Amino acid sequence: MLGLLDKSRKVVERERHVEIPVLLPISGCDVFDQVEPAYYNREPDLKNALQGEMPANLLCLLPRGWYILGDIIVVKIHPALTAYQERIGQALLDFYPRCATVLRDYGIEGQFREPVREAIAGKRTHTLHRENGVVFELDARKVMFSAGNLHERMRMSSFGKDEFVVDMFAGIGYFTLPMAVHSRPHKILAIELNPNAYYYLCRNIMNNHVEEIVEPSFGDCATKTPEGVADRVVMGMVQVTDRYLQKGIKALRPGGILHYHQTIPTWKFPDAGIRDVIAAAETLGRKASIQKCIRVKKYSPGVVHAVIDAQIG
Ligand SMILES: C[S@@+](CC[C@H](N)C(=O)[O-])C[C@H]1O[C@@H](n2cnc3c(N)ncnc32)[C@H](O)[C@@H]1O
Repeated sequence: MLGLLDKSRKVVERERHVEIPVLLPISGCDVFDQVEPAYYNREPDLKNALQGEMPANLLCLLPRGWYILGDIIVVKIHPALTAYQERIGQALLDFYPRCATVLRDYGIEGQFREPVREAIAGKRTHTLHRENGVVFELDARKVMFSAGNLHERMRMSSFGKDEFVVDMFAGIGYFTLPMAVHSRPHKILAIELNPNAYYYLCRNIMNNHVEEIVEPSFGDCATKTPEGVADRVVMGMVQVTDRYLQKGIKALRPGGILHYHQTIPTWKFPDAGIRDVIAAAETLGRKASIQKCIRVKKYSPGVVHAVIDAQIG
């Protein structure tokens, strides 16, 4: 309460007394130097691990964050550190002995949203990632999995009970699987164009035992999306999603719900996304009532990945 507790050290119970670590002496209390302090595990810190192994001026460029998919570590590395990337990879594996491989991440490319990644420690890139009761089988070099979309995947898991859902950009099942596992829709039609992502979508339908619910469809949602049947349409793509908006709206029966993902300059959030949805609905002689606008994550400097929920009349 006084802010004097040293939170880096543990409270230690000895035979005849308890040691409470403090930052400063407290008047009226006996304060002594701990003989055997016990520390909480510190956050893994590459700077500490690699000190003395690279020029001091490069230490501040070391990555301070990374994420783990199953047992694969994915990390962005500053170009000036390329000569040290194997050492960085090994240090990360030392932090996480259960992990098999470290991939250097150069970003996501193209319509298939494929990652550009290079193995800098270990070799295996196929893994099983578990999240919110769902198993995602994937090859972290071949298909993307956005750590930043976690909340959206969780949110989607609460929608769809007894509904007919169309997932127009299904990927490996990012939104389809949490929905199928937790909400048990009547049916989800999951459309995917990238053969690698489609392969893992089919594997994941099996892995999560939702074959009765999810029908995978290989191809372009511009031609594969049905009309007038869906209670809910998920459009989990960014950047080009507006091109498919009329298809998504046409898929919905009156009263159905649309989840429209798009990248929007921060200063235009959420108006630009709302405008897209309302204009597309009007062109089709339908009415969109906006229910929610959510910032999913930062996409790039000054740009947000957003999702607009709308009911289509
Ligand atoms: C990977 S998800 C995007 C996930 C997430 N919303 C993000 O970007 O952060 C998008 C998926 O849509 C697929 N896709 C792109 N265009 C498509 C189309 N016309 N029809 C069906 N799938 C398509 C891509 O192959 C990709 O797997």
